[in-house]
Amino acid sequence: GVPNTYADPVHIAVIGGTGLQTLPSFTLAATLTPSTPWGTPSSPISILHHPSPTTGKPIPIAFLSRHGLHHELAPHEVPSRANIAALRSIGVRTIIAFSAVGSLQEEIRPRDFVVPDQIIDRTKGIRPFTFFEGGMVGHVGFGDPFDEGLAKIVRKCGHSLEGEGVTLHDRGVIICMEGPQFSTRAESNLYRSWGGSVINMSALPEAKLAREAEISYQMICMATDYDCWHESEDVNVEMVMGHMRANAENARRFVGAVLDELSKEEHGEQVLAKHLDGQTKFAGSIT
Ligand code: ADE
Repeated sequence: GVPNTYADPVHIAVIGGTGLQTLPSFTLAATLTPSTPWGTPSSPISILHHPSPTTGKPIPIAFLSRHGLHHELAPHEVPSRANIAALRSIGVRTIIAFSAVGSLQEEIRPRDFVVPDQIIDRTKGIRPFTFFEGGMVGHVGFGDPFDEGLAKIVRKCGHSLEGEGVTLHDRGVIICMEGPQFSTRAESNLYRSWGGSVINMSALPEAKLAREAEISYQMICMATDYDCWHESEDVNVEMVMGHMRANAENARRFVGAVLDELSKEEHGEQVLAKHLDGQTKFAGSIT
């Protein structure tokens, strides 16, 4: 069987969203089921071996399926604190998070990818959204909710796949709504008037918790529908799943290219270095 422990720290993680529940092209080295003070994560954490493109040496990658192995967790049921704490406890300092999104702009077509740089919080405050409570007071900056260094790497990889049918938008504002119901047409139009590019139910509290845990975090969005503002169609689950399935191969290729790039020593060092300073400060409270 597959081991249930892994001796070395794992620095890089992928959180898979709807339609990206597995990363089949990598070698499974271990399956971990860490428990945390905030419960158990959405799914077991798969430790995958990715050959370094420079040395050929296997680089361990952690993979976690946000909605569970069989998509059994609705967005408001995802144990985000357990997910982030569990990844942090095995050494993760960099997360690439994948998400299916609705498009709020004509030029972002279904199956296009977006590397967002901003978020507007339209969750309802009912999801546990912080590690800082119960006597531990902390306030982290969130002016830039994603890591720009990581975003640059992700954009470069996305553009390198443009010949293979990948269309990438370099920036965007995610509206993160509570769900699980989709928006009303009035809400959808309001979000467009706010400058929203795409809409999902999963960017928060995940991005906030990653920031609190001092993990650099970047989301990659794939548009699956035009939400309900668009006259062409009304969004439904079949539409979201249909585009996800049809484009899952591009999503996997995209993630693979990003992992290649992150596995190159120089970037690994770069992305890690600035987080190592803060590491000890946080380690006592979360690991
Ligand atoms: N995820 C995928 N499509 C969506 C939409 N239209 N609204 C909210 N979340 C989504």
